Amino acid sequence: MPSDPVLLVHGGAWAIPDDMVEAHLNGVRGAIAAGWQVLQQGGAALDAVEEAVVVMEDDETFDAGRGSFLNRDGKVQLDALIMDGATLRAGGVGCVERIANPVRAACKILSDSPHVYFVAQGAEQFAAEHGIPLCKNEDLIIPREVERLREFQARAAEQNQDLFAPAISHDTVGAVALDRDGNIAAATSTGGTLNKAPGRLGDSSLIGCGCYADNRTAAASTTGWGEPIMKLVLGKWAADRVASGSLPEWIAAEAINYLESRVNGHGGIILLDARGRFGIAHNTPRMAWGLKTVAQEEIGIERKP
Ligand code: GLY
Repeated sequence: MPSDPVLLVHGGAWAIPDDMVEAHLNGVRGAIAAGWQVLQQGGAALDAVEEAVVVMEDDETFDAGRGSFLNRDGKVQLDALIMDGATLRAGGVGCVERIANPVRAACKILSDSPHVYFVAQGAEQFAAEHGIPLCKNEDLIIPREVERLREFQARAAEQNQDLFAPAISHDTVGAVALDRDGNIAAATSTGGTLNKAPGRLGDSSLIGCGCYADNRTAAASTTGWGEPIMKLVLGKWAADRVASGSLPEWIAAEAINYLESRVNGHGGIILLDARGRFGIAHNTPRMAWGLKTVAQEEIGIERKP
């Protein structure tokens, strides 16, 4: 059924400091512009969310692609997933160290592989064989993050620090889109949490947790502390409730309430159904988000339930 396109993106839910607000707003604005260009030309929701996420992976402001948090060993390890609501095809990569745009690799898995998910060197090999350039891990590391990890590990050695306090668990970018053909899609990409153990996988790249899309329900992308989100399979939880007739706006708020009340989690969600109805919610001090429809463009840094 022909639809007016809608694009919704987020650039992470956390206590974004005042001096990083502008960079976040600019980043989500750039992502909206890239994704909207696809939708405006009649392109697929799947391509729109890929292009929107690539922009944020390339922007060092965000915990995705270059500039991501470092793991305990001082390396960048990236996770991403993309999902097509029309076909339920999905592609995911986890713990990749040599791919600057993991969402591109995830998209290649979706389109060119009978499998859904590749990790670590196997994912890098698949990507290289399908034309995705590999880089050095050092190319993904920036001085800001080397210093952040150094400070964190020094403090953690002195005191028993909460690894996932909202002030330090900034993370993850994502997008959901509806195209002119009435199809929805979602993509999520992350560097995960600061000082994570090598090999730790978060929610972002797991189907139904950090990302989900089904034309019959909704497209969702989450951000925040991954472990609680995984325990609730929050993306699918929210999408299924949209199918039962509730407005995505309410369901997004309910999902974040559920995350907090059930497992003391924190984070945010963007949610969009195939009728173009959407929801944005978070329980962190801030979440960078952007929305574009044929009638409006809105960029924000706070939108609490
Ligand atoms: N939400 C990102 C992560 O926990 O890895």
